[in-house]
Amino acid sequence: MTPDPASDPRRRTLSRRTFLAGAGGVAAGGALGAQLQATEGAPAHRASGAVLSGTVEITLSVNARAHTLEVEPRTTLLSALRDRLELTGTKSVCERGSCGACTVLLDGEPANACLTLALSAVGREVTTVEGLGDSETLSVVQEELCAQDGLMCGFCTPGFALSLTATLAREADPSLDQIREGCAGNLCRCGTYPHVFQAGLEAARRMRGGR
Ligand code: FES
Ligand code: FES
Repeated sequence: MTPDPASDPRRRTLSRRTFLAGAGGVAAGGALGAQLQATEGAPAHRASGAVLSGTVEITLSVNARAHTLEVEPRTTLLSALRDRLELTGTKSVCERGSCGACTVLLDGEPANACLTLALSAVGREVTTVEGLGDSETLSVVQEELCAQDGLMCGFCTPGFALSLTATLAREADPSLDQIREGCAGNLCRCGTYPHVFQAGLEAARRMRGGR
């Protein structure tokens, strides 16, 4: 049965246009304000919190590595990761908070990178699928997604891997319903849900020390 994405707190009903217009202003008043203090003297900016143009230098901690880059206030975390840092494991599909393909972890909690401003990730630890493992050393969750045939086209897989990772970090012995709940914001057009959920259960069992 397909999970209900509406039950996931990551899901927003904002359109991308609304998000960028509104969130740009919020960021300008919050995280951007702090950033602008750090870049005092940049001619396009003022520390008044009303800045919506120009660029600002930020440092993002991604997979335990610091990256300094210049972004516009409206730049999403998804764009910063994919277009600037070339971390393309984070997928861009709907870009409006509907599918979960862009799921990353912010301080260990799943977030839609397409609805998160890069500025608002400053000071937080960002984990992408590249931070879970690599082709040589997969995480247990990644191994089980492969072992349980939890992917077909694979477009949804990084997002599921991160949602499962967060779920198992919260609950060492999750029920099927808890696994489903943890993945409620992730959609799979290929319909691999039962295999994904089984991968979560198997990964949890292995991580508890089961063979
Ligand atoms: S939810 Fe971000 S790309 Fe779909
Ligand atoms: S495996 Fe194709 S969208 Fe999930």
